[in-house]
Amino acid sequence: MTQQKSFSSNLGAIMAAVGSAVGLGNIWRFPYTCGKYGGGAFLIVYICFVFLIGSVLMMSEFVIGRRAQHTPIKAFPALRPDRKGWGLVGLLGIVTSFFILSQYLVLSGWTTGYIWESLSGSLAALGTSAAPISNYFSQFSTGTKPILFLVIFALLGLFIVLGGVQKGIENVSKVLMPVLVVLILVLCVRSLTLPGAVKGVEYLFSPDFSKLTGEGILAALGQALFSLSVGMGIMLVYGSYIPVNDNIFKTAMWITVCDTLIAILAGVAIFPAVFSCGFDPAGGPGLVFCVLPNVFNTMGGAGQVFSTIFFILLMVAALTSAISLLEALTATLCEHTGTRRGIGAGIVFLLTTLLGVVFSLSVGPLSHIKLAGYTLFDFVDRLNSIYLPPLCALLTVIFLGWVMPETEVLDEFTNHGTVGRRFYGVFRFVARYVAPVALIVVMVSGILS
Ligand code: TRP
Repeated sequence: MTQQKSFSSNLGAIMAAVGSAVGLGNIWRFPYTCGKYGGGAFLIVYICFVFLIGSVLMMSEFVIGRRAQHTPIKAFPALRPDRKGWGLVGLLGIVTSFFILSQYLVLSGWTTGYIWESLSGSLAALGTSAAPISNYFSQFSTGTKPILFLVIFALLGLFIVLGGVQKGIENVSKVLMPVLVVLILVLCVRSLTLPGAVKGVEYLFSPDFSKLTGEGILAALGQALFSLSVGMGIMLVYGSYIPVNDNIFKTAMWITVCDTLIAILAGVAIFPAVFSCGFDPAGGPGLVFCVLPNVFNTMGGAGQVFSTIFFILLMVAALTSAISLLEALTATLCEHTGTRRGIGAGIVFLLTTLLGVVFSLSVGPLSHIKLAGYTLFDFVDRLNSIYLPPLCALLTVIFLGWVMPETEVLDEFTNHGTVGRRFYGVFRFVARYVAPVALIVVMVSGILS
């Protein structure tokens, strides 16, 4: 069964894909990773990877998805019917998406919970010393409260996906993405006008290459893939919804530019405030949940307002990403089983929420259960960031560059020879040689580290 779903316009496609790309990766993960590996130097390497490799991966997924008009498991064999085994790449992507969504729900639950904690004044009451704030977070995240928020968040996602591709996902993204930009700009203005903010700006934009280690370079590539949501078949599904006349190159470039700008703006919102209050920018995963509440508390009464805005921002970003995962999984399930969309979405919701609850508990009550020495949550986190997406991304570019008939790639990339011919050569070269080598390096060093 081929699908007939599609976004209504190029703008709609861009907004939905930006919604998928802009997520916790931009606002939660990017600033602390950037902080850890030396600020500006990391930023430069990151930008090179995002534009050179990440965007090419996105274009590859778009080409495959739009050409095949199928969800990932059927898309690969549809383009090379004599090589059915490639369906396994689609399957790998779908499995990865399933794990990412379950894990994403845990973090999204914390974020949603922190909107409440912030509104209710519980965070503000913790004062300005670091210990009570970190203790509060460890008690919160290891307790059972996040489960409630996880379920609320997942239900919100479910309702949007039930609305459909255009009326649900596209329309919600068209509203939420501008809201997100406004919220982040408000925080940037606040952060930049704090005393001593300039140090944070310098940190982010003046490169200190001595802090950029080999590990930092790999982290930059991993982050580039993660941030663009490539390497798990999500963009392939969205690609199949891109209207036929849209220019794939331009669409992917717009998404890449927006995603990168929002990551940088998140840095501008966070670093100056962190420096101004005398904290460490390399705060690790706790930067958002431990350092920032402290930063907000030093601002006095208005801090509570900014803190609430910040966690709403984070939740909006997470929600538009979660719906893309939910959509891709639902579409795949429906294509394979022929179930109605509503039922498919319900099943995916139930399964991922259940697994999410298990991951959430693995941070607290179930933390004694270990896989290869990691808690379940940390285990999937490693799987999701180091192993599965680069592997799936690698196989995707190999398929596009070496397996899919070139005439079809060219035809799809250029809309039957009418657009984007100028960039085709570079696109193909990167997809065939540069991206595979870079991805192999990332994976090998990820495994060795
Ligand atoms: N890009 C998302 C972010 O920056 C994270 C992510 C990775 C994702 N893969 C995904 C989101 C797949 C949706 C679908 O947070």
